[in-house]
Amino acid sequence: MKNKMTIKFDSVSQNECFARNVIASFILPLNPSVSDLSDVKTAVSEAVTNSIVHGYPDCVGEVTMTAEICDRDLHIIITDSGIGIDDVDKALEPFFTTKPDDERSGMGFTIIKTFMDEVKVVSKVNSGTKIEMIKTISKQAV
Ligand SMILES: Nc1ncnc2c1ncn2[C@@H]1O[C@H](COP(=O)(O)OP(=O)(O)O)[C@@H](O)[C@H]1O
Ligand SMILES: [Mg+2]
Repeated sequence: MKNKMTIKFDSVSQNECFARNVIASFILPLNPSVSDLSDVKTAVSEAVTNSIVHGYPDCVGEVTMTAEICDRDLHIIITDSGIGIDDVDKALEPFFTTKPDDERSGMGFTIIKTFMDEVKVVSKVNSGTKIEMIKTISKQAV
């Protein structure tokens, strides 16, 4: 089975919920296990929240989510054209956050890396951030 889709949306907080529901609907035909469905929704939420909160701290910008299914492999790319990250390795460390006063735990990227099989972050200051994630989706037991 092969399928792909792209959505573009504003960096407003209600679109975190929108994006997680879109990805859930998109992978539903794979009959995913409850745990895989939950992992993917959480990873998308974290990545989209990062674009909204960190990518565009002072303005509303555009966030793009592309998802592709090839057999049971799910490939997701989330991009923004926001402020970017100057040290990606540091940003990926557990508990690292640039917004400690803002109820941020610094665990977003760590959660994404735990829940997805492969994660790659590419970013450029004043240009934007792209996060790619891959996960093989297991079937729900019957
Ligand atoms: N899309 C993004 N644009 C700019 N900076 C980002 C983006 N995503 C993550 N970051 C940076 O990486 C840090 C770590 O992200 P994360 O692990 O999700 O923790 P948190 O969101 O709790 O700060 C953030 O504090 C921020 O500085
Ligand atoms: Mg985060």
